[in-house]
Amino acid sequence: MFITFEGTEGSGKSTLIRTLSEKLTLAGIDHITTREPGGTSVAEGIRKVILDHEMGSLTELFLYEAARAEHFEKTVLPALKKKQIVLCDRFTDSTIAYQGFARKLNLKLIDQLNKIATHSRAPDLTFFLDIPVEQGLARATNPNRFENEGLAFQKTVRRGFLYSIKKHPRRWRVLKVAKKTPDQLADEVLAQMRLRSKGRK
Ligand code: TYD
Repeated sequence: MFITFEGTEGSGKSTLIRTLSEKLTLAGIDHITTREPGGTSVAEGIRKVILDHEMGSLTELFLYEAARAEHFEKTVLPALKKKQIVLCDRFTDSTIAYQGFARKLNLKLIDQLNKIATHSRAPDLTFFLDIPVEQGLARATNPNRFENEGLAFQKTVRRGFLYSIKKHPRRWRVLKVAKKTPDQLADEVLAQMRLRSKGRK
């Protein structure tokens, strides 16, 4: 099963993924955790270039997609072939939200590049960590250049995620983050994963 986690800045994706991974390990369930951009040495190198430098929007898009192609072929696909569960922090929906909505690049082009980079393999489930953008930004301790773009940018990113949720409602699960602990959220995710795998049998 291929599971991705999406959200605006400071929504708590990485803490949730860590907690979830601990629970899966305790239950003896084979899985990997990974992230985009990143997840292989080349893709982590591209991540550093993207996050450390200002650049044109199109350059940014191609770098995210290059990192994705590498990550998908070298990390995600081999794990899925070994029947491991893959938990991935951000994926194709982030590109629609950030480069499509916030940077205003063509959505059809992004969709095509996403499909090429992922061999058209969509995630089985995508969790949206829903938190007011103001709260998320306030949580950011070491802001990256996307967090520094400010509130209006984050609100547009959020609209981008809501667009994808509307477009593919069966794949998405919305997690209301407010007042919930990572432990509670991880249990919600596990329950949804069980339902999804039962539905497939
Ligand atoms: P990161 O520090 O991991 O942010 P976060 O913890 O919020 O996930 O940096 C990744 C940044 O890259 C994040 O601001 C979102 C952005 N991003 C895109 O703009 N497009 C993409 O396709 C992906 C995967 C990420």
